[in-house]
Amino acid sequence: MKSLVDRFGRDHTYLRISVTERCNLRCTYCMPQHGIEPKPRSELLTYDEIERLSAIFSSLGVRKIRITGGEPLVRSGIEQLCGRLTALNGIEMLAISTNGTLLEKKAKLLYNAGVKNINISLDSLQEDRFKTITLRSGHADVLRGIESAIDAGFQSVKINSVIIRGFNDDELLNFVEFALALSVSVRFIEYMPFPGNNWMESQFISFYEMKHTIESKYPLEPVSRNEAIPGPAKEYKINNSNTTVGFITTMSEHFCGDCNRIRLTADGRLRTCLFANDGVDLKRLLRNGASRDVIENSIRAAVLLKWEKHPGHEELMTNQDRGMTSIGG
Ligand code: GTP
Ligand code: 5AD
Ligand code: SF4
Repeated sequence: MKSLVDRFGRDHTYLRISVTERCNLRCTYCMPQHGIEPKPRSELLTYDEIERLSAIFSSLGVRKIRITGGEPLVRSGIEQLCGRLTALNGIEMLAISTNGTLLEKKAKLLYNAGVKNINISLDSLQEDRFKTITLRSGHADVLRGIESAIDAGFQSVKINSVIIRGFNDDELLNFVEFALALSVSVRFIEYMPFPGNNWMESQFISFYEMKHTIESKYPLEPVSRNEAIPGPAKEYKINNSNTTVGFITTMSEHFCGDCNRIRLTADGRLRTCLFANDGVDLKRLLRNGASRDVIENSIRAAVLLKWEKHPGHEELMTNQDRGMTSIGG
């Protein structure tokens, strides 16, 4: 089996594929204030192209794929793509990250298509705050989506919550109680700067502070991630329960040394880091009839150029070519 090892010895086994830049919410921390101009449909990778590239990535050692967006469930027939990716040789884990608004109808279809792990964004348990942050309604839809995901039987259901000081930091304990009541995991994500998302240091709240607040009521015990191909969160178990709390500590304690991730954008470009600018245009190569060898070599070359770690926050706010919404996290 070939592998995608970079200059720093990191093996890339986890591919995040964005299937659309569109989203039915307008989360202020994600979508630039002026919105985004979605690319014409012809610029998006087709499902056939995504399947072909995924097969090449899996032959290069990728074993986990996560489908992201924008909001992946707005792209029609997403469960069909999931079924095709599940069937690929070498793909052991297919996962999806969604805002949950359209999940009630799709959860069972995704499960039947082989999706094993589903992460659902929810930044507030209060309906009015949900509207404030997403600029849309849909809180009840997300709650129903979470229930459908639990009923569908996924191996794991995780709630993702971006914590912003003065907005939802007073809900940390409520989220832990929500996770305990439903027996799902919750992950608290440090707010990250992107051009156009108006990130302010005063709104940033670190992993240490979040953990301290939670531990005032629920002692946390560090656990090692027991997944074969883990993601970036630091995981803790809540005392006397099977519920885990995770923290994604991009800003306070980066985890670039263990990075196993590469990304494919909806328009077919390879990104070697969430914060790196677009790399090789795999869609162009495919559409120009490049051979499998040429595509493989381009992917390898891009991985060899991957940086050791992402730059500091000032650079992150200015020197990036895409907003979060078109990368998919
Ligand atoms: P698991 O595979 O279940 O661990 O999921 P995940 O945490 O990798 O993916 P998810 O889509 O749920 O992302 C949660 C948060 O982690 C988002 O805010 C992502 O932007 C962030 N994230 C995911 N991968 C990376 C990464 O490689 N670097 C950084 N800095 N953040 C990441
Ligand atoms: N900082 C941290 N997380 C973010 N996400 C989107 N934008 C940001 C940001 N600026 C998260 C979403 C979702 C995941 C895919 O990325 O909330 O959970
Ligand atoms: Fe990997 Fe980039 Fe995330 Fe660091 S910031 S963990 S290098 S994707």
